[in-house]
Amino acid sequence: MQENVTRRNFLATAGIAAVAATSVSTFAAESGGGKTLKLLGISCSPRKGMTTAKAVQAALDAAKAVDPRIQTELIDLGGLNIAPWSPKPPDDDMKNLLPKFQDPALGGLIIGSPAYFRSLSGLAKCFLERLAPLREPKMVLAEKPFGVVAVGAFRNGGQEMTIEQIQAILLCYGMIPVGGHAPAFQGATLLSANDSIAQDELGLKTAAQLGRRVAEAALKLA
Ligand SMILES: Cc1cc2nc3c(=O)[nH]c(=O)nc-3n(C[C@H](O)[C@H](O)[C@H](O)COP(=O)(O)O)c2cc1C
Repeated sequence: MQENVTRRNFLATAGIAAVAATSVSTFAAESGGGKTLKLLGISCSPRKGMTTAKAVQAALDAAKAVDPRIQTELIDLGGLNIAPWSPKPPDDDMKNLLPKFQDPALGGLIIGSPAYFRSLSGLAKCFLERLAPLREPKMVLAEKPFGVVAVGAFRNGGQEMTIEQIQAILLCYGMIPVGGHAPAFQGATLLSANDSIAQDELGLKTAAQLGRRVAEAALKLA
């Protein structure tokens, strides 16, 4: 009996493995047509090139490896001047950024924010508010997938709350939130130690997992 069960389990597992192998190999051929899809990663830390930018880049690198049609670009908001939304549109760096989000080749977004007081950074909030022209007259970002990366200096420092807040905002743009597979359920959550994420193996794994999921979703939705 035990032998039968074991054999049955083995056959079931082998079957699943075969299906998985087939679906991986046919995934690229079946999804997204032949066109190039651009994934933009946005680092919303006021500190250019620091841990948030590195974490977003890790997600983009994994996304790019999914399929040759995926192109990626990191936009680092560190050092840029981006004011909150106001009735009179501010004359600042946002005017150079907006066209990138109107590119018809845009396939999805990966937004990164440091956890600031267990919340998204002020820069992230300003940037997300200033995407408002992409809601009217047309919902330019609708039906595109996005993933969120959050970096904190503390374990349980509010990374998941930061992700949720950004997800709540981007739902207003009609975008589709993408979580990861385990261990990146909500998104990518990283721990910075002495201004470095290099030692956070698990966190970097969540970033890669999220990047892959956004790329796969972008290909499926395109
Ligand atoms: C104003 C401020 C508030 C912060 N609040 C938190 C927090 O609530 N939780 C946390 O884990 N880290 C907190 N941190 C630490 C940052 O999230 C952490 O250093 C992060 O890596 C910074 O991202 P960066 O290296 O890209 O600038 C805070 C840092 C600052 C400057």
